[in-house]
Amino acid sequence: MNNNRTYWDNKIIEWEDSIRTGGNVSFVERLASHFRKPLKFRTEICIEMLKPIVKDKKVLELGCGSGFFAFELYDRCQPGRITGMDISANAIGRAQKIVRDRNLTDKFEFAEGDITSISLPESDVTIGLGFLDYLTAAEVKKVFDNMRSKYFLFTFTERKFSLLRYIHILYLWSQRCPRHFYCTKKEMADCIDSRYGQIRFFNDKRLSFGCIVHNLPIS
Ligand SMILES: C[S@@+](CC[C@H](N)C(=O)[O-])C[C@H]1O[C@@H](n2cnc3c(N)ncnc32)[C@H](O)[C@@H]1O
Repeated sequence: MNNNRTYWDNKIIEWEDSIRTGGNVSFVERLASHFRKPLKFRTEICIEMLKPIVKDKKVLELGCGSGFFAFELYDRCQPGRITGMDISANAIGRAQKIVRDRNLTDKFEFAEGDITSISLPESDVTIGLGFLDYLTAAEVKKVFDNMRSKYFLFTFTERKFSLLRYIHILYLWSQRCPRHFYCTKKEMADCIDSRYGQIRFFNDKRLSFGCIVHNLPIS
């Protein structure tokens, strides 16, 4: 996992800037950003799905990066409190600075850690965008077993035919990403404990090969 930690410490700020801040990024990330429209749609659809559920609730975000989704969720859906966890110290440091700058210390807590090997705090809803993709099936199962919330929403990358997915494979290879996994809906469902009740998948061509899995009580 040390490889994974180093990779994300070196990658996450630039990856986020290529999508969210438009900051100064390398040529490869600038090129890759042209293929990342599905990630913008992913943010929108996840916010819309969470909106009816999270108001005044405790949200735990796994693999939160520098908290950009968490801050957007806070601004648009008024959750009670958000805890974010990520393996990258650089991302968590940036998230904590944003919290201080925005004077939101009573609303957010960000902590560094490898989610496959730490205990998870209790929450009402656990979420993760683009996080499960970096775990093996056994690790995904462990995360679901260790979670202490009734509801969840995660995105994952589906192993299906897609030109964008082949471009994504090339991108990961060029960046020497130490681990990334695509999985089928069936493989994902097999990782999720029956105590979560009915799980549902959301696909849309605007998500490309991305998929959302959740058990939110929404229609
Ligand atoms: C593709 S980024 C997504 C970041 C953020 N969720 C977003 O959508 O902007 C994946 C994130 O998962 C984190 N991550 C990967 N493996 C992890 C692990 N084992 N424990 C905690 N975080 C991890 C990375 O550091 C990175 O911030």
